[in-house]
Amino acid sequence: MPSAASGFPLSNGVKIPCIGLGTWQIPDNQELVRHIHKAVEIGYRHIDTAHIYGNERSVGEAVRTCGMPRDKIFVTSKLWNADRGYKETLAAFDTTLKTLGLDYLDLFLIHWPAARGEAMTWQSINSGTWRAMEEIYESGRVRSIGVSNFLIHHLVPLLARARIAPMVNQLEFHPGYMQAPTVEFCQSRGIQVEAWSPLGRGALIHHPLLSEIGAKYGVTGAQVALRWALQHGAIVLPKSMNAERLKQNTELFGFSISSEDMAAIDAMPQTAFSGLDPDHVTF
Ligand code: A2P
Repeated sequence: MPSAASGFPLSNGVKIPCIGLGTWQIPDNQELVRHIHKAVEIGYRHIDTAHIYGNERSVGEAVRTCGMPRDKIFVTSKLWNADRGYKETLAAFDTTLKTLGLDYLDLFLIHWPAARGEAMTWQSINSGTWRAMEEIYESGRVRSIGVSNFLIHHLVPLLARARIAPMVNQLEFHPGYMQAPTVEFCQSRGIQVEAWSPLGRGALIHHPLLSEIGAKYGVTGAQVALRWALQHGAIVLPKSMNAERLKQNTELFGFSISSEDMAAIDAMPQTAFSGLDPDHVTF
């Protein structure tokens, strides 16, 4: 039976566990260390952090002390917007690795595309950043590289200049906000999609359609939202500070959503969108 540790293969052959633990907004302290230990005990093998979350120190400590060999835990971090550019990216990666206290990362992502200002400027910033990502990958200090929040018009110029294509694109993806054109674009090019806020930051957990479909399968609306993303081929990164819900979010393999129910969820009007449009974010 598949589990949270079951892997999706990336384009370079690296396996990435299909359920990851999101850590956004979780403070950098011993509670987070204990929380990750608990998650590992439950079966999580994939932890997602970012420089801007400010918790890399505790994430690294938890990975080093969780009792599992380092190569059994998949660790992702992300380059913050202030660190874009070739030299800055190389330095920021060193800082991230040092803060985590790890020898290597499993995945490093550009957190948001440069997207404002003159057309040529943002494209060259992204390709300078990507050149550094490629070098870091070739140095062997990261097992895979990718982007986050890149839409088609950010990906096309990046791919045109890249020597190594991004292996992952982490996007807002949940019922009511499925960004189908970008997801299809990525999937047709072998770029693995990861879903951030797969529960719409909690806003979907009591959604009537998801709860109704869940009742049919004997699961919760949250489990329906997560399973729906997996059935679309996306990796999910749910977040919960509660041990029961952490466990529940890994119990996604005892049922399968019918194509009729998948279509009903796909047809939901826009719901629980974060409002974060990559071309217009102000950070
Ligand atoms: P809690 O930490 O109290 O469990 P997202 O991952 O989309 O950002 O959503 C995170 C939010 O969803 C958190 O508020 C979390 O609250 C809640 N949540 C996570 N898993 C579940 C679940 N299985 N059932 C209900 N709420 C959940």
